[in-house]
Amino acid sequence: MTKLLLRAARGESVPHTPVWFMRQAGRSLPEYRELRAGIGMLESCRRPDLVCEITLQPVRRHKVDAAILYSDIVVPLQAAGIDLDIVAGTGPVVASPVRTMADVTATRPLEAGDVTFVTEAIRLLLAELGSTALIGFAGAPFTLASYLIEGGPSRHHVLTKALMYGAPDVWHALCERLADITRTFLQVQIDAGVDAIQLFDSWAGALSEADYRRFVLPHSRAVLSSLSGCPRIHFGVGTSELLPAMAEADADVVGVDWRTPLDVATSRVPGRPLQGNLDPCVLLAPWEVVAAEARRVLAEGSKAPGHIFNLGHGVLPETDPDVLTRLVELIHSTE
Ligand code: CP3
Repeated sequence: MTKLLLRAARGESVPHTPVWFMRQAGRSLPEYRELRAGIGMLESCRRPDLVCEITLQPVRRHKVDAAILYSDIVVPLQAAGIDLDIVAGTGPVVASPVRTMADVTATRPLEAGDVTFVTEAIRLLLAELGSTALIGFAGAPFTLASYLIEGGPSRHHVLTKALMYGAPDVWHALCERLADITRTFLQVQIDAGVDAIQLFDSWAGALSEADYRRFVLPHSRAVLSSLSGCPRIHFGVGTSELLPAMAEADADVVGVDWRTPLDVATSRVPGRPLQGNLDPCVLLAPWEVVAAEARRVLAEGSKAPGHIFNLGHGVLPETDPDVLTRLVELIHSTE
């Protein structure tokens, strides 16, 4: 029997809507915080036993239809030799930001041999997961470039855009390098046996459609079009105006944040299965509100050729995990 997530991703009929949550591992789970005590984030990503256990935690607890490999978008960058760390309470921090052609030239491609810990973690996971799908992922060139250029998290991506507009040759050279690293990282995960992949372009919504098409789409398409054999999900935040362009980047499934109702989203990308899009903040409201909003998302999602239920962005750390468990039950019991 084909895994439910794959059937929905191909627009085939399903007995109930499959559901998983972006950032479902970690964050809100006490068993995750316990396991991570005293272990750095990036160190935990390089240990297959920990990756396997942390990836499985939300599957056991919530009975979601998919696991997402525990990792981070900066893991392949570090594996390719870029000096960076993940600082608690901040996020990724890059030792020497990349801002000139010489900085770009100093980076190197990722080799499959740099990330054997990922292959090993996926091997361990496939032995445990049964009918639950395993999703691999990577960051898209724009979102990765933002961290490398800014040197860390950024609100308005000012330096990123200044480089994009002011030095397009450096911009495109950097994105070509990042597309290559991302392609290799996703191919390693596909070769190891993941069921689907998701390309996170979390911050692409900072761009106009024209700029997205000119500066980003060719690079994201270069990543997705080079991969085959499993569904490719393409997700960003604040991308209502970018949905058609993101679909054109060779995406099989388009991820939608909470700003665009799924019945509207499907009219923008006809024929494309959708993933989304409950506002993660709704999970902090009383249960009746959560249930009503989830039913609305299901009804709107039923207008698309296929629907994978998810949040519109990641689970917030303050979310009560029991609400997630109850939400999965609700999705599974709704026809
Ligand atoms: O949230 C997204 O938009 C998804 C894409 C994304 C990930 N990491 C995927 C991820 C982004 C934009 C990042 C960067 C990042 N890494 C941030 C955001 C900083 C900012 O700019 O606002 C942060 C805080 C990190 C560090 C990080 N990544 C931690 C501390 C953890 C473990 C616990 C937690 O908070 O979730 C991660 C894990 C991580 N990053 C996962 C993914 C898909 C795996 C966990 C999961 O999916 O459940």
